[in-house]
Amino acid sequence: MRIFRFLALFLLATGLLAGCCEPSLIKTQVPVRPAGQEDVIGLTVAPLDTVRIGVVGLGMRGTHAVRRLLKIPGVEITALCDLREGPVADNQARLGRRGRKPAQCYSGSEDCWKGLCAQEDVDLVYICTDWLTHTPIALCAMEHGKHAAIEVPAALDLDQIWALINMAEKQRVHCMMLENCVYDFFELTTLQAAQDGAFGEILHAEGAYHHNLDAFWGGYWNNWRLDYNSKYRGDNYPTHGIGPICQVLNIHRGDRMVRLVSMDTKPFNGPRWMKMYTGKECPDFSQGDETNTLIRTESGKTMLIQHDVMTPRPYDRLYRLVGTDGYAGKYPIKLYCFREAPAEDVDADHIPEEKVYTDAELDAVMQQHRPDILTEELEALAKKVGGHGGMDFLMDYRMIYCLRNGLPLDMDVYDLAEWCCIAPLSRLSLENGNRPVEVPDFTRGAWQKVQGYKHHLK
Ligand SMILES: NC(=O)c1ccc[n+]([C@@H]2O[C@H](COP(=O)([O-])OP(=O)(O)OC[C@H]3O[C@@H](n4cnc5c(N)ncnc54)[C@H](O)[C@@H]3O)[C@@H](O)[C@H]2O)c1
Repeated sequence: MRIFRFLALFLLATGLLAGCCEPSLIKTQVPVRPAGQEDVIGLTVAPLDTVRIGVVGLGMRGTHAVRRLLKIPGVEITALCDLREGPVADNQARLGRRGRKPAQCYSGSEDCWKGLCAQEDVDLVYICTDWLTHTPIALCAMEHGKHAAIEVPAALDLDQIWALINMAEKQRVHCMMLENCVYDFFELTTLQAAQDGAFGEILHAEGAYHHNLDAFWGGYWNNWRLDYNSKYRGDNYPTHGIGPICQVLNIHRGDRMVRLVSMDTKPFNGPRWMKMYTGKECPDFSQGDETNTLIRTESGKTMLIQHDVMTPRPYDRLYRLVGTDGYAGKYPIKLYCFREAPAEDVDADHIPEEKVYTDAELDAVMQQHRPDILTEELEALAKKVGGHGGMDFLMDYRMIYCLRNGLPLDMDVYDLAEWCCIAPLSRLSLENGNRPVEVPDFTRGAWQKVQGYKHHLK
């Protein structure tokens, strides 16, 4: 009898303990929307005949942006800015070679971009600096009534994210993150196919940034990227992976992310690259070589986001969609797979080989679901101008098209917030023993105002 009593007490105690140790959700705050402010979902502003652009940050990415922007009708580059004088002079010379008017130039100090943000004949500030300066520059631009286009990731923590949202709502200007991967031809077409119902209901989606940056580490100004990763744990570069799948899952267009949980490996290679590029030992390097994040949505869908820039793993953004009636995947080969009628005679030992589409069959599906915004002329031009195979050009082209036609942009400040928040929230989860973390509703209640993702056309 005693032994039973002891056993009962033991089970009760361990049960209670297990209950106490259950990982509890880490809550996040949603700041109250300041009085007089409204959301900017579907924001439109008066059409701009010519979009006058000031480009800040003329390193590897900014210089490519200038080249692309000069190929888009209705664009004038009226200001150029970089901390270093050399890249400004090079890009000014580029404008001259293309027969363009010289731009106003800014360089030489950490806050040289302030003059550009205040310049009267600038409608849009296009920001390609390192991560630390993205948000301060965008806030200054919007404060002066300019639209802001910001390279990825636009914001690094929740304070920066809310500051961008509040400024865009207060000033009623566009604040778009330059997430190019949503414009890759496969992603764009597959988004359309998903909207056409080709995969049934999408239940689960995967996205990633697997990119071995060995060839790039030495090229970043002031070693900013490795330096940031050495200080901050978490998925610091989530937007290429999450952007395209959030569009497919209609995030803040009928659904929303509610919580996430992250797990990472130890940093094995990070300290090696720090030693190689700075000569310094970095035993407390923060970012793990591999970071995995799982997200659940309000309507019961799941997402998996991965990050690895440290190993020789082949380039991969996953882009996998699992639907009730179909599947899409992009790497290592583009693949669609749709539910087919079951075979007549079932062989219990048979492991089915899924039908792999030939290039021609895949093309036929892509043609069937070709989005309206992707005309054949535009696709050909994008491929000719290039920039990651054309998607960078398409991104710039669409932004300018929407601004010139007074249409809502393809990506708004809430997309920016949702895609950027993975970095700080994954860090919270990792630094608290992989506890689940609440994802704030950045729209502050407006996530069902629009149903389904839509590109706007005149
Ligand atoms: N979307 C993409 O596919 C993609 C690809 C590459 C880079 N990026 C992003 O583009 C941004 C820039 O990356 P990069 O590879 O060109 O880096 P980079 O180091 O080559 O360029 C950064 C530039 O910013 C300038 N700069 C730094 N501080 C400044 C300041 N206070 N004022 C003015 N200029 C300043 C530097 O002088 C440098 O020229 C990063 O956010 C990166 O994540 C995006």
